[in-house]
Amino acid sequence: MTTTDYAEEPGYTSSYLADQHAGQLARLRTLERAFDPLSQAVFDQLGLTCKSAILDLGAGAGSLAGWLSKRYPDSTVTATDIDTRFLTDIPGIRVITHNAVTDGFPVGSFDVVHVRALLCHLTERESILTRAVTWVRPGGWLVVEDMSLQPSLRTANPVFRKVAQAGVTLLEQSIGSDMLWADTLPERLRDRGLSSVGHCTHEGRIGDNSPADAFWAATTEQAGPALLKLGLLTQDDLDAMANLRADPAFTDAALTFVSAWGQVP
Ligand SMILES: C[S@@+](CC[C@H](N)C(=O)[O-])C[C@H]1O[C@@H](n2cnc3c(N)ncnc32)[C@H](O)[C@@H]1O
Repeated sequence: MTTTDYAEEPGYTSSYLADQHAGQLARLRTLERAFDPLSQAVFDQLGLTCKSAILDLGAGAGSLAGWLSKRYPDSTVTATDIDTRFLTDIPGIRVITHNAVTDGFPVGSFDVVHVRALLCHLTERESILTRAVTWVRPGGWLVVEDMSLQPSLRTANPVFRKVAQAGVTLLEQSIGSDMLWADTLPERLRDRGLSSVGHCTHEGRIGDNSPADAFWAATTEQAGPALLKLGLLTQDDLDAMANLRADPAFTDAALTFVSAWGQVP
């Protein structure tokens, strides 16, 4: 498979977002810079004992797993991904090649299961969530974080709205992503019988040179060839969006980052 065969098979790993893409590591780093502080704040309020078994499912480039192993030095931190290429040289973590769709863990393996920016992209998201609950010991926590692109679809700016709609359509068609699913996370956890369910949301903006802006720009750039190939946007649209983002007078809400957590009874 070449880097431009993104539209031929649906799914994350054959899409323009996948790890075989040359810019993927840099894009994952922008994601980490934007959202690690939010994920770390969620962990800090869980009140974990130092000796916990923690799973980071679909850990990507692993900065959060690395932080977890430092923050809880007596814990065991397991980082999984379908492609573990970027999970090398991170001290203190156990790395497993693991497909969240087809592979599991024994019941009650972990005190915390964390999954970020993965389930919204997998069509099996509901069944993975149900299975992930079983991997947590009674009294342990499931922490799910994902982003909703709802704010970008509501923008009053026609250039941004067109690009946002095209991006959501591309994600749906080429991967099977649901970019509004994150908005429902707390009720998904309650539906599965979790207690002490909590959540927090954070608005990510574009055009303000924030870490979220850098992540949005890196993702849109990576998606550019696919958006053009599928006829969802023209080069003029992409140029207009780049000019808009560079306009000092422009900033707008692009996404909502949702963190939700609940305790397994
Ligand atoms: C958007 S990245 C998020 C990475 C990381 N969770 C973070 O937030 O920094 C999604 C990650 O999920 C991985 N992935 C995609 N499909 C997967 C699957 N079926 N099972 C496990 N990991 C998968 C990708 O390889 C990629 O590293």
